[in-house]
Amino acid sequence: MGALDGRVALVTGAASGMGAAIAHAYAAEGAQLVLADRDADRLTAAAAELGAEAHALDVTDADAVREVVDGVAASRGRLDVLVNCAGILTEVPLLEMDVETFDEMIAVDLRSVFLCSRFAAPHMVAAGWGRIISIASQLALKGGESLAHYSAAKAGVLGFTKAAARELAPHGVLVNAIAPGPILTPMIDGLSEEWKAAKQAELPLGRFGRPEEVAPTAVLLASDPGGTLYVGQTLGPNSGDVMP
Ligand SMILES: NC(=O)c1ccc[n+]([C@@H]2O[C@H](COP(=O)([O-])OP(=O)(O)OC[C@H]3O[C@@H](n4cnc5c(N)ncnc54)[C@H](O)[C@@H]3O)[C@@H](O)[C@H]2O)c1
Repeated sequence: MGALDGRVALVTGAASGMGAAIAHAYAAEGAQLVLADRDADRLTAAAAELGAEAHALDVTDADAVREVVDGVAASRGRLDVLVNCAGILTEVPLLEMDVETFDEMIAVDLRSVFLCSRFAAPHMVAAGWGRIISIASQLALKGGESLAHYSAAKAGVLGFTKAAARELAPHGVLVNAIAPGPILTPMIDGLSEEWKAAKQAELPLGRFGRPEEVAPTAVLLASDPGGTLYVGQTLGPNSGDVMP
């Protein structure tokens, strides 16, 4: 018996990094997976590996998100778990940041969490059971230089999570966030070796995490009874970077 046997789970950002690792972990626990990502080529490869349904989707496109979410619920007869993992990271000092850069970050890393949750939640409420898990970042808690837009978007995800959790828990829908520390995915490939060395030295654990070390937290939050008491929480697989 898998911890997620029979659950229909939609994972965004599933073509790469943590989204792909969560998809693998969910598949291993028996979930029926639906993967979404805007990178159609990598998504097709990831879905083929798992025999999963795949949707090329830009999570900033409200109509497209609604179509995919409602389509999954209609064709599968249910949508039990939503994992909001799609995201981008850019580094720009605040004094040089233009409005478009800020707006794009908010659209991809925050507004998308609202869109996917907004359209998924009614299906979960109707069923009386659901889990919404959003990948924030420890930078939501501590901030980061040249990351005002990213830190703001991720802090917004935590606020959204708490408010949605209060509204939806009475309907059996549990909403939580995961705020990872630095994780070895393509997202941080571009950062300088100097930054990586200095950052690692700062971490109590002395090393970055791997995507497969974050995925079990997403399994826990989606499972029963492991996840049943988490409501509006932020779990922090972060190598000790932040201890709230
Ligand atoms: N890697 C880290 O150190 C780290 C730390 C904390 C939080 N995070 C967060 O974890 C999540 C996953 O990041 P990752 O490290 O696995 O990065 P990644 O770059 O490997 O994966 C992100 C995925 O999101 C997809 N994506 C981006 N914009 C999209 C859009 N508009 N529509 C649909 N898909 C889109 C990308 O195509 C990619 O497949 C992100 O939300 C990120 O902010 C990452």
